[in-house]
Amino acid sequence: MLTAELIKKKRDNAVLSAEEIRFLINGYVSGDVPDYQMAALLMAVWFNGMNAQETYELTMAMMHSGDMVDLSSIPGVKVDKHSTGGVADTTTLVALPLVAACGGKVAKMSGRGLGHTGGTLDKLESIPGFSVSQPMARFVEIVREQGLSVIGQTGDLVPADKMLYALRDVTATIDNISLIASSIMSKKLAAGSDAIVLDVKTGSGAFMKSEEDAVALARAMVGIGKRAGKSVSAVVSDMSQPLGEAVGNALEVREAVEILQGHHGDGDLARVSLTLAARMLTASGLGTVDEAEKKLQNALSGGAGLESLKQMISAQGGDPAVCDDTGRLPAAARRYSIEATASGYVGAMETDRIGIAALLLGAGRRTKEDRIDPAVGIWMKKRLGDPVEEGEPLADFYVNDEANLEEAVSEFQRAISIEEQKPEPPKLVRTIIEE
Ligand code: URA
Ligand code: CA
Repeated sequence: MLTAELIKKKRDNAVLSAEEIRFLINGYVSGDVPDYQMAALLMAVWFNGMNAQETYELTMAMMHSGDMVDLSSIPGVKVDKHSTGGVADTTTLVALPLVAACGGKVAKMSGRGLGHTGGTLDKLESIPGFSVSQPMARFVEIVREQGLSVIGQTGDLVPADKMLYALRDVTATIDNISLIASSIMSKKLAAGSDAIVLDVKTGSGAFMKSEEDAVALARAMVGIGKRAGKSVSAVVSDMSQPLGEAVGNALEVREAVEILQGHHGDGDLARVSLTLAARMLTASGLGTVDEAEKKLQNALSGGAGLESLKQMISAQGGDPAVCDDTGRLPAAARRYSIEATASGYVGAMETDRIGIAALLLGAGRRTKEDRIDPAVGIWMKKRLGDPVEEGEPLADFYVNDEANLEEAVSEFQRAISIEEQKPEPPKLVRTIIEE
């Protein structure tokens, strides 16, 4: 096969076969297909798209480019969850302990913060002693015994995605549904679970700003899962404001613990977490959605979810006492109240800017080498549609290093618009897509 002929085929909007897609991906990983040819192919895909079968074949070729996790020694259905990323999006730390407490088996490989979004590994590492790097055998053992472990990626999973993502990043080809869907699903499928629940975010804090794009991405990923013979469903949920109140690593752990202690149970973070957890339980064969919701409510109110989180923290070397006393988490030296500059209603939020403001305080990385300050971040005091008086606190900033404080405050103030008319609150769960 001639690479140039395959690029021409996609350029002319024809359909690539499974064999042709494998040839391209294997060739790229082995070095036989150079960056410039892959860049041309990606741009042809960006313009002409891929149909569902091509997207599936691309996902399979990528998935097979490296190691695959074998979870078969854990009895029962193994279930995973993936969020496309957001701000104050701490559903993993709320939903997964509840699922484990209700009998689910969750072996999750998480990521770090990216751009304005937070990452579960960074949040977990704010717990004193907690280690996100566990040998594969230990990871499997923790899941078998306790139902839940969250670690960073081990081994050489989907090297094709690492190479393609880096190339897409510099060739303006990130934002294509087939390329995003295959990138996410190749990693999720290589991670070995039988069932996957996707949380696809839409709105100003999401990578997919429009609901239409978010739904299309959700459908593409559910379609890949179905072709791969896995149980995959997707919840499309609102990210037009921070999901929870806390933005920043230890602060987000604190909020998750407080929810599992029985506080903020009717907040948006708890509600989306329970929606995802219910889908995870049904995908595990542990009841209907109604039954799952009841079990989860019991696990929440009876403290079994909190107990599950404690067990995972202990198993991974962390201090489980943070679940009883969040004062043991790292704390910032100073707290500043950020006040409204006008009266009215909280009308809209540029949620990505709120993520950037937290990043500027040290909660995220500006370069790959940056070190995160686990203690710092933002605690939101207002939600969309809330009335607000001039001078009233919109948020608290938790600060150690003041170097970028002014810039962070200005970013935050620009993110929030105060309007005269009370806006319609956004719908939290937009739609659920099942196979
Ligand atoms: N996240 C991924 O893992 N891949 C993409 O292509 C986009 C977001
Ligand atoms: Ca993520």
